[in-house]
Amino acid sequence: MPNDRGSWGSRPGFILAATGSAVGLGNIWGFPTQVGQGGGAAFVLIYLVAVIFICAPILLGEVLVGRYAQLGPAGAVRRIAPTGPWWVIGLLAVAAGTFILSFYAVIAGWTVQYLWLAVTDGLASDARGSGELFDALSANGSQNILFTGLFIGLTAWCVNRGIRRGIEAASRLMMPLLFVLLVILAIRSVTLPGAGEGLAYYLRPDLSQALNPEIIGAAVGQAFFSLSLGMGALITYGSYLHRSHAVRSASMAIVGIDTTIALLAGFIIFPAGFSIAGFDPTASGPGLIFAVLPQLFATLPGGLLFGAAFFLLLSVAAFTSTISLLEVPVAHAIDQWRWPRRKAVLAVGAFTFAFSIPSVLSFGGGFFSELPAVGGTFFNLMVNVWNEWALPVGGMLISLFIGWRWGARFAGDELRRDGPGFPSPALWGFLIRFVSPTAIFLLIVFRFVG
Ligand code: TRP
Repeated sequence: MPNDRGSWGSRPGFILAATGSAVGLGNIWGFPTQVGQGGGAAFVLIYLVAVIFICAPILLGEVLVGRYAQLGPAGAVRRIAPTGPWWVIGLLAVAAGTFILSFYAVIAGWTVQYLWLAVTDGLASDARGSGELFDALSANGSQNILFTGLFIGLTAWCVNRGIRRGIEAASRLMMPLLFVLLVILAIRSVTLPGAGEGLAYYLRPDLSQALNPEIIGAAVGQAFFSLSLGMGALITYGSYLHRSHAVRSASMAIVGIDTTIALLAGFIIFPAGFSIAGFDPTASGPGLIFAVLPQLFATLPGGLLFGAAFFLLLSVAAFTSTISLLEVPVAHAIDQWRWPRRKAVLAVGAFTFAFSIPSVLSFGGGFFSELPAVGGTFFNLMVNVWNEWALPVGGMLISLFIGWRWGARFAGDELRRDGPGFPSPALWGFLIRFVSPTAIFLLIVFRFVG
């Protein structure tokens, strides 16, 4: 066992770090954007069903695998199943961590620039100004390459130091602050004149949309992404737990907090958006929160402060997520190839930065903004491949691996170590053996034919 890999100081430390991984741009930027593009409340409904029945069992499963094996995904899979095709789980994990980081860091770079704008009073306060500001900012290739690189560099620096101190402390301080701020903003947003229309859009599902395979696919992909599932991030974080740490309630807490924060973000964006004349959630795309929120801040006393605090916390939420993305390939190199941490961080960091450039140049008419072969931007291609395909496929493989290869008996024994509680090993075993993999499989088939 390499001593270099480290461990959490405590069970709350693990919960904070795992929640820090889960809560990020996926919740505050991705979720409202997807709701806007995916038909409003129908998307929300499918999302919640996916979280409860498909994702929560897999999340608990990932943590259990990590705690049991005390290794990252590739090592854990090999320890449990030395033969067979299951090694693809490890491969997928390393690839997904690296590539997701490459486009995630682009958005994270925007949040830092918005933080700067808020601090220097450079945010626009009306709809046109906000939209134009976003278009100009996202089209500025060299500046975005700089901030993306900066973000990856900071992430690399922190992962290189070992995650325990910096990240546990940062999460402990920032997560509660983020939550309080989001609640305040949500209250302001739902009490704006004209907010009702936004609430209806967000909460009243159009059920004809709920059976659209594309929307179902996007919702399930979003749920995986938001919970950091399907690529062994939680196997990795679980592997830094002591075997005596109970994980059932911790897993529930991670799922609950992550989902609450995503829902809260919707309560902020949609009422505020619809209170602005001519707002079209479908057309807004990736600029949605960047164009809407500054206008909301402008309605608040001390709006500047709110704006600065919001973008600071959003940057930090993104940071605790990029750390977990980078940690997966880094842990792999440490566990499997015996690389020193520093070398692993440098290699993965440099590769990710290089690969982030086409994602940066996907906006504002940049070189990669119209790829005929994929019918969209490079960035969209990445989101599609990794969020909507790789993570669900990874999740399906992980659930099959846990339920059938590790086996209901052994996996259940690992859960029984924690004593009685919810879910019982029988319920969890049923969900992870039958419900999760079947649902994901059907989804994949539907999307192929659909
Ligand atoms: N869950 C994070 C978010 O919502 C992103 C993230 C971090 C992630 N680590 C991950 C997504 C691992 C998938 C897998 O922003």
